[in-house]
Amino acid sequence: MTISATSASHHDRAVDPQFKQDVLNCFRSEKRAIPARWLYDYAGSELFDAITQLPEYYPTRTETALLKQCLDEAAALIGPDRNIIEFGAGSVTKTPLLIEATNPAHFIPIDISGDFLRSSVETLKKLFPQLPILPIEADFMGAVALPDTIGKSNNIGFFPGSTIGNMIPMVATDLLRSMRFTLGDDAMLMIGFDRIKDKDVLVAAYDDRAGVTAKFNLNLLTRIKRELACDIDAGQFRHIALWNASENRIEMHLEAQSDMQFTISGEVFSMDKGETIHTENSHKYGISDAQTLLRSAGWTPLEAWSDRDDYFSIILAQAKPIPFAP
Ligand code: AVJ
Repeated sequence: MTISATSASHHDRAVDPQFKQDVLNCFRSEKRAIPARWLYDYAGSELFDAITQLPEYYPTRTETALLKQCLDEAAALIGPDRNIIEFGAGSVTKTPLLIEATNPAHFIPIDISGDFLRSSVETLKKLFPQLPILPIEADFMGAVALPDTIGKSNNIGFFPGSTIGNMIPMVATDLLRSMRFTLGDDAMLMIGFDRIKDKDVLVAAYDDRAGVTAKFNLNLLTRIKRELACDIDAGQFRHIALWNASENRIEMHLEAQSDMQFTISGEVFSMDKGETIHTENSHKYGISDAQTLLRSAGWTPLEAWSDRDDYFSIILAQAKPIPFAP
């Protein structure tokens, strides 16, 4: 038996079959779109971190400042000894603020990127050596089983960063409902929403002068080339960020700059100059839009905090008891 030099040890990690499926579906269909979560491989997650430092990218600093302001009030409503379940790896700037303010029993970060999850757990362990941290490497869009030691009581979900904005409202509702069932009947949820605002402010936040967001978007092609035996010329694509006013969202696209042909895992595809791949949506919400979204998924808003410009809102909600009629 011979072992080919390219097998086993060659690549660091097995390719997620869902990634391959999603990419092939994208290029096989008329409307080319790839789920935004594939932007977040290790390099993508690092680039997103760099985005959060950009002068144009207001959400992170606005939400962080808002969190600092609201945490005394929020902690009084949340109470101590809850289990914090964070949907996403755990932001090194925001998560410690919530942990400090609420003194939780456990911290459970859930993220699809194992590498990023591990590095953020390391950081948090140093900050909170006493706090039991139970990371879960999973796609939180599906049902996630919490560890037996946690169970379905005394939980608070933490979903900052306006990540909910990545989903179309129908999917956002499904996710919020599934969180409601994952976390249990006495759960709370602290969630960040990016607000509808001036179009130029929004577009600049997703098309920064330094070109970091462009790099973040184009990194998806680098990932496709690396993981899926693809010969696409990434240099022939341009980053686009646009405001879709009827859907209340920023869209990111990759636009082909010339007619091209390429191969992915042996299958041949083509794109014409000017055609795009839709790579991300970032939905923006009015405050009552956000509250209605929560209610429709079984969460009752308890309190909402916004910055003075209404650029961003943090909402604390409580699982609504399943009612009898009417
Ligand atoms: C991580 C989804 C909150 O939509 O603002 C930032 C991702 N994409 N710049 C956002 C993102 C381009 C970000 N979220």
